[in-house]
Amino acid sequence: MNKISIIGAGRVGETAAYIIAQQEMCSEVVLLDIREGAAAGAALDISQSASYFGFDTRVTGGTDPALLKDSELVVITAGSPRKPGMSRSDVLDINRAVIDTLVDDVLKYAPDSLLLLVTNPVDVLTWHAWKRTGWERGRIFGQAGVLDASRMAAFMAEETGLSIKDIHALVIGGHGDSMVPLTRFSTINGAPATAFLDAASIERINERTRHGGAEVLALRQISSAYNGPAAAIATMVDAICYNRRRVLPCVCNLDGEYGQTDITGGVPAIIGRNGIEKVVELPLDDAERSGFQASIDSIRADLKQL
Ligand code: 2OP
Repeated sequence: MNKISIIGAGRVGETAAYIIAQQEMCSEVVLLDIREGAAAGAALDISQSASYFGFDTRVTGGTDPALLKDSELVVITAGSPRKPGMSRSDVLDINRAVIDTLVDDVLKYAPDSLLLLVTNPVDVLTWHAWKRTGWERGRIFGQAGVLDASRMAAFMAEETGLSIKDIHALVIGGHGDSMVPLTRFSTINGAPATAFLDAASIERINERTRHGGAEVLALRQISSAYNGPAAAIATMVDAICYNRRRVLPCVCNLDGEYGQTDITGGVPAIIGRNGIEKVVELPLDDAERSGFQASIDSIRADLKQL
């Protein structure tokens, strides 16, 4: 891929840019931020690590939306992060206005790009951005499930004492407290995770996964998580750049899948160079299906606030 732009040079955007550049996923990364100097400074700092890591990806930054021109992929991380005690939905009003402006910039300067939303509440804002663009639904999607599943995998590694390399976890639903960790679809080198975990461990893992972001925020106080979110963005960007056609949990615009229409939520999907190719439908059992429905219902409730 030639050019990727990341809007929002906060910790998540900057760290994502750093990983993407280090791994040479594209020739050029542009960081954008409305705060004078924030993006340019971050870009300069990242560039100055290139000789150590040996990467040729050019990293630049600035405030002018025209810098988006010719981007093949735009990642939006900009917005107000939640403070301790706030839910992701509490930042909806502020961030909806931010997204409106940014989507209009993308429509103006990078109308042929793919758009990856990260700003919270990500499910609602991905739906909102999708409607605003009028794009074909696979071109616009959000990051949440890769992070949530990665947190779940970390907790599974902690509970079992086994290598994270062998652990595959899966989380569907909205990126909020009602997300649905799917232990039944999680594996340890092909073996069902349930073979390694008792009911109490599963409950602990699920509970910590559902509140994974809040746990980090409560400890840090002055910052939400960013290393995990940035790695999750990079995972999706890598799948797109190399057209890997990975099956990753993504925030997808649903059109009948899982019995849901005109709503956006986290489901596994095939993701590659053209964005979301196909939503993968899993044979959920009754409890999983009702958990997913409850989670989608809470996204629909947030949509009413728009
Ligand atoms: C997280 O889960 C803030 O949504 C972000 O850490």
